[in-house]
Amino acid sequence: MIRVENLTKYYGKRLAVDDISFNVEKGEIVGFLGPNAAGKTTTMRIITGYLAPTQGNVWVADHDIINHSLEARRQIGYLPEAIPLYTDMTVRSYLDFAGRLRGMDSARIIARTDEVIEICHLEEYVDVIIGKLSKGFRQRVGVAQAIIHEPAVLILDEPTIGIDPIQVAMTRQLIRELGKDHTILLSTHILPEVSVICQRVIIIHEGRIVAEDRIDNLSSMMSGSQRFRLQISGPVKKITERLQKVKGIINVSYEESNYIIECAAGQDPRRQIMDEMVRGGWTLLSMEQIGMSLEDIFLKLTAEEEADE
Ligand SMILES: Nc1ncnc2c1ncn2[C@@H]1O[C@H](COP(=O)(O)OP(=O)(O)OP(=O)(O)O)[C@@H](O)[C@H]1O
Ligand SMILES: [Mg+2]
Repeated sequence: MIRVENLTKYYGKRLAVDDISFNVEKGEIVGFLGPNAAGKTTTMRIITGYLAPTQGNVWVADHDIINHSLEARRQIGYLPEAIPLYTDMTVRSYLDFAGRLRGMDSARIIARTDEVIEICHLEEYVDVIIGKLSKGFRQRVGVAQAIIHEPAVLILDEPTIGIDPIQVAMTRQLIRELGKDHTILLSTHILPEVSVICQRVIIIHEGRIVAEDRIDNLSSMMSGSQRFRLQISGPVKKITERLQKVKGIINVSYEESNYIIECAAGQDPRRQIMDEMVRGGWTLLSMEQIGMSLEDIFLKLTAEEEADE
C-alpha cells in the first residue's frame, strides 16, 4: 500500500534521509521509530507529498507521489507533527474547511463530519472553539481532519506526543480502531508505544533503517525485563497490592515516593495500570520507562550492524 524506494533527502548539505526503502502492506499498522532528528518527519512529509525527495520515489496505492501526486494524496490522511489548527474556528467549521480543502462537496462533508465526530469521540465538542480545547482533544481533531475524506492510508506523526497518560491511552485506542480499516504508518520515539499499537516496526537512526521486524521478534531481541517509574497519589499499601495484581508485572517496590515496577519482557502493563488507578480513584501523576532505553537499543543495533560489515 505504501512503497518507499531508495528515498534520500538533503536539506542543503545536511543528509536527513539516507537511501531508505520499505513497504507497508494493506491493513498493516507499522511503527516508524527513531530518536530525535532520525528523519521520521522528513520521510513522512515526502510520503504525503509535502516535500520533494532529493532522490527516490514513493508509491501510495500504486500512485507515485511525484508524477501522480493528486491521486496519491487522495488516498492519504496526514496528522502532521505540528497540526495547523485554526484556533478561532469551531471543531465543526474546521472539519468543513478541511473537507473543502480535500475537494469534497457540501453534502458529503456534512455526512462525513458527523461520522468522524463519532469515530473520534468529539460529540460534546463540535461547537467548541478549537483554541479552548485541551491538547489531547486537539489531537483528536487532527485525527478527524486526517480521515474526513476517507483515505485508505493514514500517516500519523507522533500522535501521542505531549498529552497526558489518560489521553494517550484513548488516542492509542482510537488508532487501533482506525487500524481495522486503514493502513497506518505512525512515528514515535517511544518504544513501548509501538508494542501496544503496531504489528511491525521500522527503526530509523541518523536517516538510515537499522532494523525492521515484527513486534514479537523485536521484544524477544530486547530480552530482559523492563521497568517503569510511577508517581501516584493515594494509599501506598493499597496501590502496591493493586499493582502487584496487574498482568505482566513481576515486582513492585516503593522508593522515595515513587513506585518502581518491573515487568516481564514484551509486556506493557501501562494501559491496565491506568485503568486500575481510575478504578481505585487514585491519581496517576506520572509514568516513565526506566531501564533499557531506545538509545540503548540503537546502540545495540548499530553495533551489530557495524560488526556485520
Ligand atoms: N526544514 C529543514 N531544514 C533543514 N534541516 C532540517 C529541516 N527539517 C529537518 N531538518 C533536519 O533533518 C534531520 C531529520 O529531521 P526530522 O525532523 O525528519 O527528524 P525526526 O525523526 O522527525 O525527529 P523528531 O523526533 O525530533 O521529530 C534533522 O537533523 C533535522 O535537523
Ligand atoms: Mg519529527
